[in-house]
Amino acid sequence: MKQINLVLPAFIFAGIMAVQGAFAQLNPVRRADFDANWHFHLGDVPGAKETDFVDKSWRQLNLPHDWSIEGAFSKDNPAGVGGGALPGGIGWYRKTFTLPVADRDKSVFIDFDGVYMNSDVWLNGHLLGNRPYGYSSFRYELTPYLNYGNKPNVVSVRVDNSKQPNSRWYSGSGIYRNVWLVTTNKVHVDHWGTFVSTPEVNDKEATVSVETTVRNELTISSPVTLKTTLYDKDGKEVASSSVKGSVAGRSSKTFSQELKVANPELWSTKNPTLYKSVSVVESYGKTLDSYNTPFGIRYFRFDSKEGFFLNGESLKIKGVCDHHDLGCLGAAINTRALERQLEILKGMGCNAIRTSHNPPAPELLELADKMGIMIMDEAFDCWKKGKNPYDYHLYWDEWYRRDLSDLIRRDRNHPSVIIWSIGNEIPDQWDSAGGPIARELAGIVRSLDTTRPITSAMNDPEAKNNSLSHSGAMDLIGHNYDHKHYNDFFKNFPGGKFIGTETTSALETRGEYNMPSDSVFVWPRKGVAMNANFTCSAYDNCRVPWGSTHEETLKAVMGNAFASGMFVWTGFDYLGEPTPYRWPARSSYFGIIDLAGFPKDAYYLYESVWTDKPVLHILPHWNGWKVGDSVDVWAYYNDADNVELFLNGKSLGTRSKQGDDMHVMWRVPYQPGTLKAVSYKNGSVVLTSEVHTAGPVAKIILEPDRSHIHADGKDLSFVTVKMIDANGNLVPDADNLVNFKVSGAGFNAGVDNGNETDHEPFKADYHKAFNGLCLAVIQSKGQKGKITVTATSAGLPAATTIIEAQGK
Ligand code: GAL
Repeated sequence: MKQINLVLPAFIFAGIMAVQGAFAQLNPVRRADFDANWHFHLGDVPGAKETDFVDKSWRQLNLPHDWSIEGAFSKDNPAGVGGGALPGGIGWYRKTFTLPVADRDKSVFIDFDGVYMNSDVWLNGHLLGNRPYGYSSFRYELTPYLNYGNKPNVVSVRVDNSKQPNSRWYSGSGIYRNVWLVTTNKVHVDHWGTFVSTPEVNDKEATVSVETTVRNELTISSPVTLKTTLYDKDGKEVASSSVKGSVAGRSSKTFSQELKVANPELWSTKNPTLYKSVSVVESYGKTLDSYNTPFGIRYFRFDSKEGFFLNGESLKIKGVCDHHDLGCLGAAINTRALERQLEILKGMGCNAIRTSHNPPAPELLELADKMGIMIMDEAFDCWKKGKNPYDYHLYWDEWYRRDLSDLIRRDRNHPSVIIWSIGNEIPDQWDSAGGPIARELAGIVRSLDTTRPITSAMNDPEAKNNSLSHSGAMDLIGHNYDHKHYNDFFKNFPGGKFIGTETTSALETRGEYNMPSDSVFVWPRKGVAMNANFTCSAYDNCRVPWGSTHEETLKAVMGNAFASGMFVWTGFDYLGEPTPYRWPARSSYFGIIDLAGFPKDAYYLYESVWTDKPVLHILPHWNGWKVGDSVDVWAYYNDADNVELFLNGKSLGTRSKQGDDMHVMWRVPYQPGTLKAVSYKNGSVVLTSEVHTAGPVAKIILEPDRSHIHADGKDLSFVTVKMIDANGNLVPDADNLVNFKVSGAGFNAGVDNGNETDHEPFKADYHKAFNGLCLAVIQSKGQKGKITVTATSAGLPAATTIIEAQGK
């Protein structure tokens, strides 16, 4: 047989060989966790970007890492109390790694979910880039500078959080979110390369639109087949579609596909069903890439008169604003810590979170998708005009387009995301600059996603001078505070759709009570709202001048159909922004839940209004009052006609909520003993709740939230430490110093007590209790086995609990 000699131009031949090489194997791990074994040094080090720099003496750690949370509180730290009174500075991270020779034909990327802030990244001494905004996720390609085989590579990261204040809250410092190493063939699905949306949904069928951007890093054009398959929650294939085309060399191309899913199971807050889209890229019969996109099928709308509807059903958005810190763990993302926060919030009926005031960790959205929590995803706290000398306004001109579009491209597949927010209380709203900027930002968002409404959290619902309100940029008019003007909304915005983007700003310290409880203390009322020891009253009778009590705004939103919902400032206390802005206070008092995760009394108000669970909660505690003092007793309840209160067995009368009130109250002459409340419906007892006068602390009780955790080096058990009297009653003013010893397969990741003024370190093996409670966070060491946690305190028997670290 005659041999046919096919002569190809050299560059095409080389290209095909590269493609064939790239075809040879599909890398089993497309995205690998790159968090382990970094070296860290606090302080600037000349030359630390160089490959041959010796970092042996540096501390070895696993990411995510926040160096600020390890520091000491001081009023002299440049972040000020507003930033949490913890140190900032400059830090360096280095990681040495090797890659197999087989990866020579691959494209390799490093993905940072977030570095606070101003990071420069080098690979083997080559600068890959700088990213000022500490909340943006970003990718660099490593391929051009990589070594393979035994020759090591070094990634060096310089993080500069030295110019402060640059934030109105605690930011944390360092590589505080996850890092990933992404290895693909030369032809692959691009970074954030899919956009899955559901333009038409009904009971019988959903149309799923999938746009996929395929990147070709070869020098020559590559034919591709893109196969998109949709799977339901059980992994069953429900739709599939293939498209063929070619992608020119060194470029990318977006393919559009439309698939139909019969009898779709809709994503909702009660039933957060997820589907998965798998994009497979093939060329010359070989699979080059496989890329997963979880998504949900759902539809929603905002109505100017009737508020929000999810899947055709009216649903009030019962939301909270939260900053990103995780209490004593700082800003370092930990999925379990975040999941616990969401579980606690869901427990009180919260169904939405506003990511105030910045792009969140990707894990928040992944959890929200799975747990059925809606998200208002927010980009910025300032635009061109700053709020702090060193904040984002310094980087605005160069970065806003990139930071905003990266946020949308990263987050637009999450069914949980229902609103884009382009800013919070933007200073530019007060002059004519605001409108044009708002329109430009909204244009950027709409060029990437038109399936969600755009808002901005604006001040001033009266909209007299607000250049954003009538800019035409917003789909939803979002206002912060001023609930008294909600009813004027249609005067100012005829036909407008309304959302309370931020509400309330009430102040409470868990377990502190100021009387009379029916008089509202407005900070800064001289010396009253804030007690001499920098605590605030937990009766829901203390607030900032621009805010309201919890109950006031709840009434305004729950009672107004046109109000699609609210985002309470805040779900959890956060580090920084104490009110008043004065040392020794170093964290906020706004939370419905304190920094350690212990609910304040307002939690039960929300639970009684926002959930169907039967609730009966009484406050205050029954200790420390003087005999004969008049003490106000409140009850939050639902699912009942009235509540009767008894003191030491004697009835103090029955109360029922009047009008739109959300609590009842008795003024009780104090006597120690037992306070008991009983709620009744149609004369039958629904619930009882008791508070006892406690004696001195006799015992410590340890209550882990989970006694089995994963042995994966990341999972956590949150151990609540209760100071108890001889009869098992919580001692509500106990502040005993507790020492912790943790041995076995876990370690102590942080301690706290929820006190906004405490200056003890979070990373320590001791902490004082505050108002009866303390917290120790126990983390897996990455090995299976028992973790023994022992708590001791002077004069008390030791308490021990065992946590089992198992599986992965
Ligand atoms: C708002 C602001 C929030 C927080 C809050 C405190 O005006 O948007 O970030 O500062 O006040 O009440």
